[in-house]
Amino acid sequence: MAVSKEEFRRWLGSFAAGVTVVTTRSVEGRPYGLTATAFTSVSLDPPLVLVCVDKKSESYPHFLSSGVFAVNFLAAEQEHYARHFAVSGGEKFRSIPFAEGSSGAPVLAERLGFVDCQVERTVDAGDHTILIGRVLAGDVAAEKRPLLYFRGGYFRI
Ligand SMILES: Cc1cc2nc3c(=O)[nH]c(=O)nc-3n(C[C@H](O)[C@H](O)[C@H](O)COP(=O)(O)O)c2cc1C
Repeated sequence: MAVSKEEFRRWLGSFAAGVTVVTTRSVEGRPYGLTATAFTSVSLDPPLVLVCVDKKSESYPHFLSSGVFAVNFLAAEQEHYARHFAVSGGEKFRSIPFAEGSSGAPVLAERLGFVDCQVERTVDAGDHTILIGRVLAGDVAAEKRPLLYFRGGYFRI
């Protein structure tokens, strides 16, 4: 029996996830980013992570052309960042302070932590593409708490 989109969303939405903003830049140097929960660590040696990016997103072609991305972990007080980066298109970085990571991808000035990555491999996966990235750099703010997403709402611990 086929799984409906409603069931898929309801089931997977009950898996609590940390919230990230995954960023990259165009070949002209313009920053791009989107809110993403489909992020996980993959391998310790070598250090690999993955993120799943919707092929229909505006940012998508720029992940492929730049070959780099940064995953910014949002802190509990950054729900407005999650909402801001979940709206498609526009100049999302006009009001958001950031710096260039060692890969060239934008790293948010405000964050719980980040990992900066070079795309090692891409895997076609339905309406998304899995980007597997080698971690080049990162940091965390030990005193900050994470923002979580669960059943359509944002939560703090
Ligand atoms: C909580 C949450 C989690 C999301 N997770 C992902 C994700 O893992 N991958 C993805 O491609 N889009 C995800 N999205 C959707 C994108 O943030 C959204 O499509 C965004 O508008 C794309 O921006 P762009 O078209 O400007 O690139 C998520 C949205 C929300 C609100």
